[in-house]
Amino acid sequence: METKLIYQALDEVAADAVAVVFFEDGEGLPQAKTWLDEMRSSGEFTGKSGEIATLHQPQGLKAKRLIAAGGGKKDKFDAAVLRKIAGTVVRAVKQKGVKKLAWMLSGDNDTVTAEAAIEGAILGNYEPVMNKPSSEAKPLESFALVAPAHLAELEAGLKRGVILAEAQNFARDLGNQPANLMTPTIIAQQAQQMAREFGLDVEVLDRERMKQLGMGSLLGVAQGSDEPPVMIVLKYQPVGVKSNGKAGDHLALIGKGVTFDSGGISIKPAQDMEKMKYDMCGAAAVLGAMRAIAQLKPSVPVTGIVPSVENMLSGRAQRPGDIVKSLSGKTVEVLNTDAEGRLILNDAITYAKRLGCTHLVDAATLTGAIVVALGHVHTGAFTNNQDMLGRVLAAAKEEGENMWPMPLDDDYRELLKSAFADLANIGPRWGGAITAAWFLREFAEDTPWVHLDIAGTGWLDEAAPHLAKGPTGVCVRTFAQLAARWA
Ligand code: BES
Ligand code: ZN
Ligand code: ZN
Repeated sequence: METKLIYQALDEVAADAVAVVFFEDGEGLPQAKTWLDEMRSSGEFTGKSGEIATLHQPQGLKAKRLIAAGGGKKDKFDAAVLRKIAGTVVRAVKQKGVKKLAWMLSGDNDTVTAEAAIEGAILGNYEPVMNKPSSEAKPLESFALVAPAHLAELEAGLKRGVILAEAQNFARDLGNQPANLMTPTIIAQQAQQMAREFGLDVEVLDRERMKQLGMGSLLGVAQGSDEPPVMIVLKYQPVGVKSNGKAGDHLALIGKGVTFDSGGISIKPAQDMEKMKYDMCGAAAVLGAMRAIAQLKPSVPVTGIVPSVENMLSGRAQRPGDIVKSLSGKTVEVLNTDAEGRLILNDAITYAKRLGCTHLVDAATLTGAIVVALGHVHTGAFTNNQDMLGRVLAAAKEEGENMWPMPLDDDYRELLKSAFADLANIGPRWGGAITAAWFLREFAEDTPWVHLDIAGTGWLDEAAPHLAKGPTGVCVRTFAQLAARWA
């Protein structure tokens, strides 16, 4: 989809449709008052959030349709609401013959507004059709933001929004591919191709290399599959900043890349097992964020680390009760082979620290328990460092991604005790998202770290008005923003 910024008045805009936001309390673009009054008095439109009404061949306008988009209450309107509304309008009109959509920005325009509108549009225009050439998806061809006069802030917002939303759609593409078409090897190829395109350094550790290093925890998960595991390392280095040592901060983004989670010998029920192709959405978020970071060029060095395996059953698969030795030297008793995410992430966390990373964030579809706790609304956020959590939550808020802090008190730690190893890979039934997070914390140790459990927010089981069914690309924007605002 082509995106652009044009400077025109409402009646000059030539497009298949031009959209204007109106609020419940009657406010909206003054230029559009006549047409809006018509729609309101007919009872077709009230301005409630998410509502859409169409006026065909509006008199006095060049555009073929005027779309009234409900903005809800004006005092509750912010970038997050605008992003959703733009996505909702795009998804509604693209099914109804509109190819060229224009979007009127209202009075108080700045970078954030332009960015949110363009992001909503690009995210809303996305359909997962790569394996369905016969699909009836009819994407928009162009989306134009319309402002009354030239403003540098708008140009900047448009540019940033395009970078972030395209990176998020890239992550959604990775997540949408089924497990036969998105193996660890293919994720590594995708990462290499992306790195080449956007100028990042990339290294892929193979099984042999991981054996030499001693990543026994990750390799234990991988051993049941015929698909070889990988550890992908992507590096963004700002010009003029040393990567580690005394030079300062170095951020690591770590993402769970289980391309299919059958559960292993502790096998999952057949019902819904196909959804476990999404168990690499944390990895996708990291790759998407690195793609955006390569273009936004923040001043902090960022390393993206993606441990990727397939969790399968076979004569070589690891058994419940097996004990593995992690890269950190700590031994783990594998009481449940379905708690595999933490087994691959711990080696990635230790590796990140060895590479000199000073601050760690991970994203993982880690537990069903987080979905019980927070549903599909909030990502669960865990930390060993409140300052670090504050930074992540601030970035998430700016990007309109819902995250909620979860407890991680010492009282939960003892639930991971094992009689035979340094720790067990599961605790008792209750509080499963917290014991999973504590497991990771054991490896982060004192390095400031935030863990984001995206099992409830990583994909949509059904389409939303503003977003297609499937992977959401959650965390891409938060991660990119975290890096961009680091200093
Ligand atoms: N990938 C799953 C977590 C998951 C479940 C994500 C449902 C999305 C939806 C993870 O590897 C897993 O299986 N976790 C187990 C842990 C348990 C064995 C302690 C779980 O949550 O049931
Ligand atoms: Zn599992
Ligand atoms: Zn899993």
